[in-house]
Amino acid sequence: MSDSEDSQLEARLAEQEVFEPPESFVEQANVSDPAIYEEFEDDWPACWERAADLLDWETEYDEVLVDDDEPFYEWFTGGELNASANCLDRHLDSRGDELAIQWEGELGETRAYTYEELHREVNEFAAALRDLGVEEDDVVTMYMPMIPELPVAMLACARIGAPHSVVFAGFSADALATRMNSAESEYLVTCDGYYRRGDGLDHLSKANEGLGGVDHETTTVVVDRLGDELEHELGADQIDYDELVADHEGAAVEPVTRDAEDMLFLMYTSGTTGQPKGVKHTTGGYLSYVSWTSHAVLDVKPEDTYWCSADIGWITGHSYIVYGPLALGTTSVMYEGTPDYPDKDRMWDIVESYGVNQLYTAPTAIRAFMKWGSEYPEQHDLSSLRLLGTVGEPINPKAWKWYYKHIGDESCPVVDTWWQTETGGMMITTLPGIGTMKPGTAGPPLPGIDAQVVDTEGAEVEPGEAGYVTVNKPWPGMLRTLYKNDERFLEEYWQEYSDEGEDEWVYFPEDGAKIDDDGYITILGRVDDVINVSGHRLGTMEVESAIVGVEGVAEAAVVGGDHDLKGEAVYAYVILEDGYEESEEMSDRIIEGVEDAIGPIARPEQVIFTPELPKTRSGKIMRRLLEDIANGEELGNTSTLRNPEIVEDIERKVSGD
Ligand code: WTA
Repeated sequence: MSDSEDSQLEARLAEQEVFEPPESFVEQANVSDPAIYEEFEDDWPACWERAADLLDWETEYDEVLVDDDEPFYEWFTGGELNASANCLDRHLDSRGDELAIQWEGELGETRAYTYEELHREVNEFAAALRDLGVEEDDVVTMYMPMIPELPVAMLACARIGAPHSVVFAGFSADALATRMNSAESEYLVTCDGYYRRGDGLDHLSKANEGLGGVDHETTTVVVDRLGDELEHELGADQIDYDELVADHEGAAVEPVTRDAEDMLFLMYTSGTTGQPKGVKHTTGGYLSYVSWTSHAVLDVKPEDTYWCSADIGWITGHSYIVYGPLALGTTSVMYEGTPDYPDKDRMWDIVESYGVNQLYTAPTAIRAFMKWGSEYPEQHDLSSLRLLGTVGEPINPKAWKWYYKHIGDESCPVVDTWWQTETGGMMITTLPGIGTMKPGTAGPPLPGIDAQVVDTEGAEVEPGEAGYVTVNKPWPGMLRTLYKNDERFLEEYWQEYSDEGEDEWVYFPEDGAKIDDDGYITILGRVDDVINVSGHRLGTMEVESAIVGVEGVAEAAVVGGDHDLKGEAVYAYVILEDGYEESEEMSDRIIEGVEDAIGPIARPEQVIFTPELPKTRSGKIMRRLLEDIANGEELGNTSTLRNPEIVEDIERKVSGD
């Protein structure tokens, strides 16, 4: 294309506000009949049988939804199944020789597992876990990067009915200890290390440090990822993964029959308080829901090669690298490393080499691709792509259009999927074979999902006005509770309204949003004290308590400020104790303190020392004001503060004047 044609195209795209799904996509889409919205509404909750029908059940369920004890809903009650059997065994006859996982390491080495091979290793590791003493309902923690042994371990746990709790490998030793203690988890699967930008990183020392903070006995399995690159020694209660698997060569473990409502896994996530929340997901409802959304939204078909570039340490990887795609029998691509190693075309190289059909990634990655320039994707043949997706944070129209044009060649629908750890799977997005796409707007709620945007009284807001997202009916993939904390579950997420004498329970995701005339929802961001750094959820309280833990710090307030690449970045306002001086060294110690307590993702972008924090007359920290300062915005009236004089001082420090 000539330069002038190209710029004409750019200009047209910049103005275009709505996009229709490409005809070629619609013709082959898993779901393409718009009647589905009405069908689900008319036939609710029985409509969810369609999701359950995507699975193999050992015992059929008696009831789709039981709601006698709201909001402790139960789905597919009486049904029995096993998640590992659904992701592996049932594909063996038809697709045993097809690839389940196509893995690529950062250095370029590859490993491919057919369904047959994955089934074999999962059986062997399940037998090994049993021999180590793991029983049904014991929580097994995994602290692993993106290596194939992670999904193997998850599926092995699912096979023997032991819920897993995966802790993101980038989290700190402290974070691991907190989660293992909270879940009373006595087993850990981890590895010696992994590669980042070509260097072998030691991971086991961090795991061992974390184990030092666990207040009960533990047994650890260690995968040898780095071989000779990193010598490591195992402790008395630590066993080498390869040896274990070799000792159980050829073992067959009958999948344990689980009730639909039995826990499949726990996933810790950040909330308003400093303590992470153990979100509980179940076998029947969760697996049905992620299979259904993989089918309907990601358009996954068994013969596809599908790639979600998230990390399995987060919910996106659980739902859309492991459970959804494997339940549908497709090939799921896993990449160990960073998108710009050895060069900025790494992602496109992977798409081309494996002929990826669907790519599901995050806006933060897309913003980086945009910044690097379209010459990187242009070096590769991306014509295998049929669908593009994003998740994790709002995507601005410019980034959406760049993705649509430079990656999708204007021939792939883009699904902007809004959901959360708690929802288990996607909730608000267009269906790619049906809905008109509007860049920047996630779309309507999925069929069967009753989401609204309401004001503080719970009344629906007018189109265009900001409000809060609520979900007014339960859905199969929903969290069932917070682990061993029903009370916090009720408090954090649910509100009861009385509607014409009927009590109604409403789920609050803690996101702000607005809605268009045609029911499309635009997500505005979190309304609680959670910030979203590169699509990763962080609680400001967690970061604050890490900072206050640093010697010499008296008080801290953390807010999210806008950031071009990360979406939001951490700004830390810090008051020092008497006798401590603000200095670069102090700032470094604070950053280190945060990295030690949580991990590098929580690293403050800027540490601002101040003698006081702006407070209201009643003594509350004015976080909104601190956010505005971080964003360099005009500040409104500050005269109602107890200490208005401090504001200018802080502003000067942030802007570096
Ligand atoms: C945000 C990730 C806008 C939102 C699956 C939510 C989004 C939080 C989108 C959940 C999107 C996720 N548009 N915002 N498409 N997807 N979010 O639990 O604020 O890590 O509440 O789950 O991410 O983050 P979590």
